[in-house]
Amino acid sequence: MGFFKRLLGICQTREPSDAGCWMFVKSEISVDLARTPELSLKGSSIRLEGRSLPTRVLVVHGHDGEFYAFVNKCTHAGRRLDPLADPGKIQCCSIGKSTFDYTGKKLSGTAKGDLKSLTTETKDNKVIIKSS
Ligand code: FES
Repeated sequence: MGFFKRLLGICQTREPSDAGCWMFVKSEISVDLARTPELSLKGSSIRLEGRSLPTRVLVVHGHDGEFYAFVNKCTHAGRRLDPLADPGKIQCCSIGKSTFDYTGKKLSGTAKGDLKSLTTETKDNKVIIKSS
């Protein structure tokens, strides 16, 4: 990622193209994988924001085939995150480049601590995420 993008905090992960692919009801986010081609490949991701979500959320289709979700705010200055090509790692979009593993554990960088990871479950071709 370019220096200027990092300076501005511009990440690569986008919101899904089909806005109707997810819903947020009673503290649970449900992502319909049939309507979310952005998550079809291992190592891919989407970000979810707005619609009364208590916080921004990053959803990652891990290199191990599992789905992971995180509060999408680096614990340094709150920048958004992207998965890395390096399996099992995500990194914030800042000059600090704080890096975390799929459990949210900080691996490197200036972040103050671990990321908050969210509980996920895959059921009926949907990823269910507990938002709190
Ligand atoms: S926001 Fe500064 S290291 Fe992540």
